Amino acid sequence: MKEINWKTKFEPFKIKMTEPVAVTTYAQRLEALKKAFYNPFNIPAEKVTIDFLTDSGTGAMSQTQWGAMMSGDESYAGAKSFYRLRDVITLITGCKYVIPVHQGRAAERILMGVIASTKPAQTIVSNAHFDTTRANVEANKMEALDIPVKEAYEFGKAAPFKGNIDIAKLKKVIKERGAKNISLVIMTVTNNTMGGQPASMANIRETSAICKAAGIPMFLDCARFAENACFIKQREKGYANKTPLQIAQEMFSYAQGAWMSSKKDALVNMGGFLAFREDTTWTQKSREALILGEGFLNYGGMSGRDMEALASGLIEGLDENYLNYRLESTRYLGEGLLKAGVPIINPPGGHAVYIDVKKFLPDFKQENFPAQSLVCHMYKMGGIRTVEIGTLMFGKRDAKGKWMAADMELVRLAIPRRVYTKSHFDYVIEVMAHIAKNKKDIKGIAVSWAPQALAHFSAKLREVK
Ligand code: F0G
Repeated sequence: MKEINWKTKFEPFKIKMTEPVAVTTYAQRLEALKKAFYNPFNIPAEKVTIDFLTDSGTGAMSQTQWGAMMSGDESYAGAKSFYRLRDVITLITGCKYVIPVHQGRAAERILMGVIASTKPAQTIVSNAHFDTTRANVEANKMEALDIPVKEAYEFGKAAPFKGNIDIAKLKKVIKERGAKNISLVIMTVTNNTMGGQPASMANIRETSAICKAAGIPMFLDCARFAENACFIKQREKGYANKTPLQIAQEMFSYAQGAWMSSKKDALVNMGGFLAFREDTTWTQKSREALILGEGFLNYGGMSGRDMEALASGLIEGLDENYLNYRLESTRYLGEGLLKAGVPIINPPGGHAVYIDVKKFLPDFKQENFPAQSLVCHMYKMGGIRTVEIGTLMFGKRDAKGKWMAADMELVRLAIPRRVYTKSHFDYVIEVMAHIAKNKKDIKGIAVSWAPQALAHFSAKLREVK
């Protein structure tokens, strides 16, 4: 008998503990939205039915993780939980020098501070910096340069590895600026800013070879390395019979170091690390910065129980049944939206589906914040909370304070891990199908008040006709 692949047809877990979701009326949601000044960041989570704001720290831990937490060693120095975590990180990344931090941006703050202190006014190059990475590079007066491949901007057109770095541009940038002026090349896996798209092994390998020849270190920003490894297994020739762990090990083997916001693929609510292959000046200075700002070398920003949950989560996050389900469920949501008449960045990413709002609402006035308008409308119609990646987030204003339209108008539906079931996704697809048939009901947005930096988090907005 031929084996039928049932494996991706169901969630590979059952539920032992539940948490209620809000079941609300249209009037209640309208009221909540008004009170939040049309900024869903201000809506209490208790009033949200499906929370797609982020996949960061919002996942469900397993019984193994909760069990491991009970054996957390809370010693200040030399805790066994630290050694366990270090050994798991070394197994996956091949990096022996591990610096535990409370979340990804703490690793970025430490690393970028160290790089800037050894060589000022440098350029950092990436397939695309995440916002906090860019902010930490710029806060240290360095330049953050993104060179994604051009397919990354062709939202409607599917390609297997839209998260790649543009190799020709990388060579050009090194030639034009001189290798000595580039301190670091970052491969973000998966590439969150460009749609949660994976980078191929061939691209990581080639980037590494170019960097090595030029004497530039390459690091992985590896928040979603396991999802990236699973995409490589599914899409790249030669990897179908390898395990996600083996693929991850090869990905890391090309890098001199890595940092991780473990709130993503490591299935914890808080945690992270910075890891180095060699004990260099950067490693030593990072240890000093860790003690100064986070905590002692053996816990950094985490408690012993957090380190236990993280060590277990890193292993679980590489489980093939889990990863197949994870990518399949995101694909299910993405294709459901496409069928409902909602254009997305195609193919769907690993952790999120991104709606292409310029294509969805072509006649919507640009000055009325189309993506933010859709974000508000999705909450109003279905209690679905998402985030705008568009004019409000990029936040550029001209000399007169007028908002300048961003290139992209996207809405991100980021999916918490092991939290929502297929029927939750069906509900979202149904709400979106209704919205797609009644686009004229979507009201524009105007800004009443916004701070100078990072406006989207706290801006006060209002509806316009
Ligand atoms: N790098 C990447 C690729 C990320 O996606 C994030 C966070 C960070 C670094 C920073 O890590 O939040 O632990 O300090 N991304 C979240 C998101 C916030 O919603 O995409 P952190």
